[in-house]
Amino acid sequence: VSIRPARADDLTAMQACNLQNLPENYTMRYYLYHAMTWPSLSYVAEDAKGRIVGYVLAKMEEDIAPGDEPHGHLTSISVLRSYRRLGLAKKLMLQSQDAMASIYKASYVSLHVRKSNRAALSLYRDSLGFTVQGIEKKYYADGEDAYAMRLSLKQ
Ligand code: ACO
Repeated sequence: VSIRPARADDLTAMQACNLQNLPENYTMRYYLYHAMTWPSLSYVAEDAKGRIVGYVLAKMEEDIAPGDEPHGHLTSISVLRSYRRLGLAKKLMLQSQDAMASIYKASYVSLHVRKSNRAALSLYRDSLGFTVQGIEKKYYADGEDAYAMRLSLKQ
């Protein structure tokens, strides 16, 4: 399995992967907006047969509050079940984070995650070093709370 930047012709497969793995789904227009606006921030994991088995969809935050610094935002990440625990999500995240820092001078990266999502929480906190900034009550459509998490990208 190899990791490479997402191209416009990967977006349908990324959307299919997202639909299989997560209840938070997006329009094709939103995928396209990410890929066209920040082409170096989204990546795919591709198997030997060219099948997309994981993706990270990421952007730069557009509405920066006064006093806040430019920062990246992780919109969505997922890996197909049979390809999990191989280090793919970590590699996808690191690629995107590197590009946020080097190309867009992001000072940190933010994301939201369900309080009950143990695998993702462990990836972000234990494996990548994110910290919890706060809780956003009823962030998800089904009423579940989110942790708002952040990782500094400054050396
Ligand atoms: N249980 C505990 N820790 C885990 C788990 C798990 N099931 N999965 C990953 N981790 C942690 C471990 O520390 C792991 O390191 P280790 O394997 O050396 O112990 C580390 O994360 C890296 O794991 P990866 O192999 O890189 O993660 P993987 O490729 O399996 O993908 C992911 C993790 C994306 C969370 C996957 O389980 C998935 O697709 N889940 C469904 C979709 C999802 O929940 N996405 C995140 C939603 S939040 C958002 O998108 C902003």
